[in-house]
Amino acid sequence: MASTNFDKAPNRRGTGSFKWDHFDQGDTLPFWVADMDFESPPEVIEALQAQVAHGVFGYACAKREEKGAVLEYLYRAHRIQASGAWLVWLPGLVPSLSVAAAVAKVRGAASSLCSTPVYPPFLSSPGDAGLESLSVPLCQDESGRWTFDVEALEATVRPDTGLFVLCNPHNPVGTVFTREELDWLGDFCERHDLLLCSDEIHCDLILDEEKTPHVSALHLSESLRERTIVLMAASKTYNIAGIGCAYALIPDGKLRMAYRKASGGWLPPVNVFGYAATEAAYRHGEPWRQDLVEYLRGNHVLLAKYLREHHPELSLTPAEATYLAWLDVIPLEIEKPQPFFQKHGLTFSNGVDFGAPGYLRWNLGCTRALLKEGLERFTGAIRSIS
Ligand SMILES: Cc1ncc(COP(=O)(O)O)c(C=O)c1O
Repeated sequence: MASTNFDKAPNRRGTGSFKWDHFDQGDTLPFWVADMDFESPPEVIEALQAQVAHGVFGYACAKREEKGAVLEYLYRAHRIQASGAWLVWLPGLVPSLSVAAAVAKVRGAASSLCSTPVYPPFLSSPGDAGLESLSVPLCQDESGRWTFDVEALEATVRPDTGLFVLCNPHNPVGTVFTREELDWLGDFCERHDLLLCSDEIHCDLILDEEKTPHVSALHLSESLRERTIVLMAASKTYNIAGIGCAYALIPDGKLRMAYRKASGGWLPPVNVFGYAATEAAYRHGEPWRQDLVEYLRGNHVLLAKYLREHHPELSLTPAEATYLAWLDVIPLEIEKPQPFFQKHGLTFSNGVDFGAPGYLRWNLGCTRALLKEGLERFTGAIRSIS
């Protein structure tokens, strides 16, 4: 039985929460930016309190135990046998995407490739490094699951393309790519001489790990490793994204050096809180994480059931991972769905920003009570147009 009560969450309105306060619109319910409303595991909070109690907040470096916690977690959770040397600590993954693009640029690339819809910085980060951002839509099978459009990718990649940016598990469509899909992608990157930057930040939020286990880019062929950058963090899973601590795993020494060089003076160092929270999450958070995933599964089920019963004309992507739901609202024939729902007291992420107009991303990292309230408002908003 779950020992964490996710039905209870602190009030975040007026607390300086980007998700709750950014639009500052009275009682709008925020189902957009990807953090959760839950308290982090108690061990994480205690580790942060101990850090505050120390009272000194100078520049930080990772302690041996903090590095050890990451390496042990990688092996325990994902059977990734990483060496400490591979680890590059980062203050966040968004700037890390731009750094990956900068590395590709230094290697002579003029463009970068990804599949859409996708988390918006995947589309904008190549531009930070002066690369053209090429994208190819994912395609859906009969069940609604999204995967790579192999033919379109082959047709789009160019001789000057130097990077593929992968999101696995995928934000926003929730696909956990299979070994076979990833083997194809690895081969594609090798044939076209692309770096593979694999953002795996959502890998501990898989809804059924037996059915759809996480296959890291580091599990693919040995030869692919010389072109692979894997990005990870404890931040999404343990709700510590605001603290700013993430890391890259780069097995190849030369690529790692290029990555460190490209990040140059742009990125601030990780602070003591980031290291401490990450260590505590990885060492002690597993029971909490399992409870969380069970709760999130319940939220996904509730949303799917509600939409089937009340809005059968809408199609919801069947999520394999994350607390994000991807909803096709094109059948509603609303010209601009995001502002429309915002006017009716619901903030969703706008499909346009992900390269997919007519879609909304619904963040389910909230209490079931809030989700139910959101669903009622959703129906009310739709009724107002019919
Ligand atoms: C796939 C993916 N990468 C990166 C991030 C953001 O990472 P960070 O907060 O470390 O910049 C997110 C946040 O939603 C995400 O979904």
